[in-house]
Amino acid sequence: MPDLGDSKPAGNPAVPAAPPAAAKAAPKKTGGSSPDAPPDKMRRRIIWSCIYGYLGVNFLMFLRFFFPRILFEPKTLFSIGYPADFALGVETKFQRDFRIWVVRAPGRVFVIFARCTHLGCTPDWKAAEDKFKCPCHGSGYDSEGVNFEGPAPRPMDRAHVELDATGQIIVDTNRLYVRDVKAGRDEFDSPGAFLPA
Ligand code: FES
Repeated sequence: MPDLGDSKPAGNPAVPAAPPAAAKAAPKKTGGSSPDAPPDKMRRRIIWSCIYGYLGVNFLMFLRFFFPRILFEPKTLFSIGYPADFALGVETKFQRDFRIWVVRAPGRVFVIFARCTHLGCTPDWKAAEDKFKCPCHGSGYDSEGVNFEGPAPRPMDRAHVELDATGQIIVDTNRLYVRDVKAGRDEFDSPGAFLPA
């Protein structure tokens, strides 16, 4: 009788068995990128650009907190020099920093606050025409800031002036002197509205 438990295939026992056919076959491409495929450089560049852009915008927004939206108002109390420094007429050199003009008229020095009494624009000094002219709606003021044309209802206000211990003029634009005939106010001759000169 044949031995049923001894069912090994016949052959040379020294030769290893052949690997299964599936193991021999090369891996098939399935449509995804293989690990050995070259990187898609353009796509990477776009992605990194987006990331850097996003981070950059956030960083700028972060920096923005250190620069709050502050309106830098001009100083309201300041010195402008000695009365003798001003010749007859209108001195405009303080307009940009302090929004004032210094006027020397016969017998006095005073300071006009450079704000149109119509709607608050800053007029221009027109030396050739010897007048202030408001660019917004055309109001005109003479060389002492008194209105004579356009919609301005009254002269421009004058700032408080006084001398300090050294004899220099201190201007305070928080204290204004008003001439408004309709309202019954005329403060241009009040102490502080001018300096005798
Ligand atoms: S604001 Fe000066 S004329 Fe209107």
